[in-house]
Amino acid sequence: MTEAATLVIKGGRVVDASGERDADVVVVDGRIAAVGADLSADRTLDASGCIVAPGLVDLHSHLREPGKEEAETVETGARGAALGGYTAIIAMPNTTPAIDSAAVVRQVLELGRTAPCDVFTSGAITVDRAGEQLAPMAEMAALGVKIFTDDGAGVQDNRLMRRAMEYASGLGVTLAQHCEDDALCGGGHMHEGEWSARLGIAGQPAEAEELMVMRDIALARLTGCRIHFQHLSTARSVAMVREAITAGLPVTAEATPHHFTLTHAECAGYDPVFKVNPPLRTEADVAAVKAGLLDGSIATIATDHAPHTTESKELPFDQAPPGMLGLETALALAITELDLSITQVLAALSWVPARVAGIDDVHGRPVAEGEPANLCVIDPEVTWVVDGAQMASRSTNTPYQGREVRGRVRHTVLHGEAVVVAGEPQR
Ligand code: NCD
Ligand code: ZN
Repeated sequence: MTEAATLVIKGGRVVDASGERDADVVVVDGRIAAVGADLSADRTLDASGCIVAPGLVDLHSHLREPGKEEAETVETGARGAALGGYTAIIAMPNTTPAIDSAAVVRQVLELGRTAPCDVFTSGAITVDRAGEQLAPMAEMAALGVKIFTDDGAGVQDNRLMRRAMEYASGLGVTLAQHCEDDALCGGGHMHEGEWSARLGIAGQPAEAEELMVMRDIALARLTGCRIHFQHLSTARSVAMVREAITAGLPVTAEATPHHFTLTHAECAGYDPVFKVNPPLRTEADVAAVKAGLLDGSIATIATDHAPHTTESKELPFDQAPPGMLGLETALALAITELDLSITQVLAALSWVPARVAGIDDVHGRPVAEGEPANLCVIDPEVTWVVDGAQMASRSTNTPYQGREVRGRVRHTVLHGEAVVVAGEPQR
């Protein structure tokens, strides 16, 4: 590496799980060498007016490789992640082939080795995510996979899900669920309600998500297996998760920026950029997701970054694939739209997801001497206008095109190397 020997992040306010203080941060050889006043080094990154925090961790990134490289690659997804302040992302397994074996896990990890963000991967719960046969979780866990999910689909079969949870408990890994009952959702393209009726688009009822949340809470009680609920979107889902956590069950959950900022009314123009699974829901659901983030029932924010090519997103609403970009806008949307302190925002985006992902030995660490230097520097006041065409992603399907948001990443440091400087990617 040709990086300067030492680096100082100067003039910022350090925020981590242990609190806040004004301090410079010196980085040497991939680690934090000092945190304090008036420090200097060979190279300076200006952090005046900025927050200096542990790098963000995304529990839910669709990187499309292998198989859909025209929409995204591990490299372009990771570059967008670094620009968004992430130093670690967890790839979802709905690739082609699916990430359901040691061979594909190895392939994705290898692709991520030179990326400007640490790339971890989830593994599928079932072979080809088909929901019929358990995938070889042990051989994937042996390669360091800590989260298993059939994301893009939920595991429909109750008995198979129970077996998966028993197996996962034994391996000490976490199962993550995309909660959606296929039979109830079948043929639906948006939330079933006032807007689907008005637009004449077939809907997916909130109950399709809630039934699976309810079942998996019951199975967590039965098996003791840790379960993480992905992209929760309904008020009753949030209430059930809150109650399960209060009851002491090993349950965690994530919310996406789109589920705390957008409602089904966005679909009024039949624009597939607003098509996503689970679908955008009602104002009451959005309020409940926000309340869940505020009281900690939903302890993490995940992007569900889901790139799709322009051609596929130009299809009619009922034919276009669901999903929207997220990595480059999540932090700003959280800062702009949530009634949370910056510490609460960073908890939900960094150290709590690091724990859920089981990577909290390297990510979401305190900003302190001796710790790995995975950091992001955020200007919390600067405003900017979202533009899909300017993103690092190969795709442009952001639902926030033209929207003004507040808060932007100035620098990102990965294992001591400045991979984003003044908002520009360095590799
Ligand atoms: C995701 C995708 O495009 O892979 N789409 C989506 O609408 N969220 C799959 C998923 O996360 O369920
Ligand atoms: Zn999903």
